[in-house]
Amino acid sequence: MSGRLQSAAMFDLDRLPATPAFVYDERRIVATARQLLPLRRGGLKFCYSIKALPLMPVLHLLAPHVDGFSVSSAFEARLAAMVPGGVRHITSPGLRQGDLAEIGRHCSHVSFNSLGQFSRLHSVLRPGISCGIRLNPELSFAADERFDPCRSYSKLGVRIPDLLTAWRELPELRQRIRGLHFHTVFSSDDFTPLQRTLDHLLEQLEPILPNIRWINLGGGYLLNHPEALNTLADRSERLLRDFGIEPVFEPGNALVGSSGYLAATVIDRIDHWDKPVVVLDTGVNHLPETFEYQRRPRPAWAEPAAGSTAILAGCSCLAGDVFGEYQFERVPEVGDRLAFCDVGAYSLIKANRFNGHDLPTVWRWDGERLIRVKSFGFEAFRDQWTPDADSEAGLSCSFG
Ligand SMILES: Cc1ncc(COP(=O)(O)O)c(C=O)c1O
Repeated sequence: MSGRLQSAAMFDLDRLPATPAFVYDERRIVATARQLLPLRRGGLKFCYSIKALPLMPVLHLLAPHVDGFSVSSAFEARLAAMVPGGVRHITSPGLRQGDLAEIGRHCSHVSFNSLGQFSRLHSVLRPGISCGIRLNPELSFAADERFDPCRSYSKLGVRIPDLLTAWRELPELRQRIRGLHFHTVFSSDDFTPLQRTLDHLLEQLEPILPNIRWINLGGGYLLNHPEALNTLADRSERLLRDFGIEPVFEPGNALVGSSGYLAATVIDRIDHWDKPVVVLDTGVNHLPETFEYQRRPRPAWAEPAAGSTAILAGCSCLAGDVFGEYQFERVPEVGDRLAFCDVGAYSLIKANRFNGHDLPTVWRWDGERLIRVKSFGFEAFRDQWTPDADSEAGLSCSFG
């Protein structure tokens, strides 16, 4: 029988008929969302940012515990609208004229990403939609510029001086804009950036505040410290009380990140280096952020302080498809199973089938049973790469 590497507080890896498997713990998602209730009572609105994991059963699971969803495209808006009720906020540098009819049907709040986007598109939206502007507060908190929305030459949001000038010059901006939006951090459990950004905006944007009804504080924060939640509650209360502005928060990772696991099986071991390289039936195909951010996924087993070291590698042809060095009681053998945890966000949505490796089968865990939610298989891979039935129609097109 195969060995398994897991912590006590998780599902039984051996119960999965096959790997790779993406498993989400639905009780944990609900428990995380329930923590938000006191803040919601205090006036803070929560919209789940579905880009983290747009799985329909997760949207249904979260719907009773949030005020709505936050989306980034017409497709996400349409998907979120399949779960009735609640508000739907959208902001994206990718908004196009052709998407607006769909967005207008499904979204209640649209935050324009640039002044040009506002000028071109706002008149197409029906008057009932509450419009906002995404800001670039130019206060950077990310160590790595690649992930900093406030970086130089950022495409994300309008700079404050530009908004103030346009506010004076464009009556349609004053008439239409009722909200502000910013999103400037990434996986932060410290709310100091939020405090500093809000102080900065409230001071700089004084002339426009009387027109503002809501402010979307973005996502990017983890909600795992009670002190952090208190800070958020306190700030929200002050926004409402002192300015009459309704705060909206749109977390993704904080709601689903810690509830997701990726289970894998060892399929090979390369023993000719001074450390064994253990090859898994998954890879950075399924956890692209481990490669993008050069981040080591957290093991779901307790690593012994003085155990055996092995390098865990993925099964694609990419030489850098490596998860990192891990400690084990004994080096895993072919057939052993293991899992990574805290991979609920930005894993499945970014997963791909590079090299023809299938996507992980999706399972939900209700604390007692594992229930299969979705599998992909060869047909889905074939359909992705097979021409459309009408692909022969042809468009005449001269060369040069
Ligand atoms: C505008 C916006 N809002 C919310 C989020 C959700 O962020 P997180 O999942 O880190 O909470 C993102 C993530 O990229 C974002 O770009």
